Amino acid sequence: MQVREYAESIIAARTLEGKLAAPPIDLVDSERGAAVRIDAPARPTNLAIAEARAVKVPPIAGMQDISQRRRILHALANHELQAAELFAWVLLAFPDEPASFRRGLVNILVEEQEHCQLYLDRLEAFGGAFGDYPVTGHFWHRMVDVKTPIDFLCVMGLTFENANLDFAGDYARAAREVGDEDTALAIDKVHEDEIRHVAFAWRWLSKWKPEAETCWQTYERTVKFPLSATRARGNVLDRAAREQAGLDEEFIANLESCRATRPNGKRR
Ligand SMILES: [Fe+2]
Ligand SMILES: [Fe+2]
Repeated sequence: MQVREYAESIIAARTLEGKLAAPPIDLVDSERGAAVRIDAPARPTNLAIAEARAVKVPPIAGMQDISQRRRILHALANHELQAAELFAWVLLAFPDEPASFRRGLVNILVEEQEHCQLYLDRLEAFGGAFGDYPVTGHFWHRMVDVKTPIDFLCVMGLTFENANLDFAGDYARAAREVGDEDTALAIDKVHEDEIRHVAFAWRWLSKWKPEAETCWQTYERTVKFPLSATRARGNVLDRAAREQAGLDEEFIANLESCRATRPNGKRR
């Protein structure tokens, strides 16, 4: 099977099994085809993307209450589902990039599927199921501004995944505080993998940015409203995770000096 066909199958799947299907062992990338930009994913009916105002996710303090914890885990699983779909999306949108870049994208796609499953296992442990609540298309909606691979690295890797380095830590702590070690371990695993995903974005941005700019300058010029560096972090910056991902001092210091904001633009 071609990478292109696999990527298409993930976005076009109308079942959860299809969304989370592993790549076949005979996956090859020899016929990449023309660039395709897909506007929205197909979904199982109960996971159709809803308007943001129809989706209510409790604040992190909700972890102490099982019914709210289910909603939080459901939202986290949806982030991972979107991430898996969007790593498929980028394979289709930019077919002519180097083979090692595309192999990296496929590997990350698979890890995003695993993250989704990890959260679904925890959701099911509390009697919930994927599709119990409406889901947003938060990450998908930002693809309108992704016109180049650098745009994707800045939006997905250095904003959404970057922020997740902080959120994952917050959620794991909150789960431990209420004695839910299994959920905390699942989130720890996501955190560990996301460090490598951010590192991937950083490495390719370093390689592809204009020589006259630093990574920070390219990032700042690239991310567009409603995104910005204020969305690339949580309230407490996990500096060690950024260092592990290889971000340079300029980028980390700039993240440190800005205040985290929510999708609605308000302070966290
Ligand atoms: Fe993930
Ligand atoms: Fe990721």
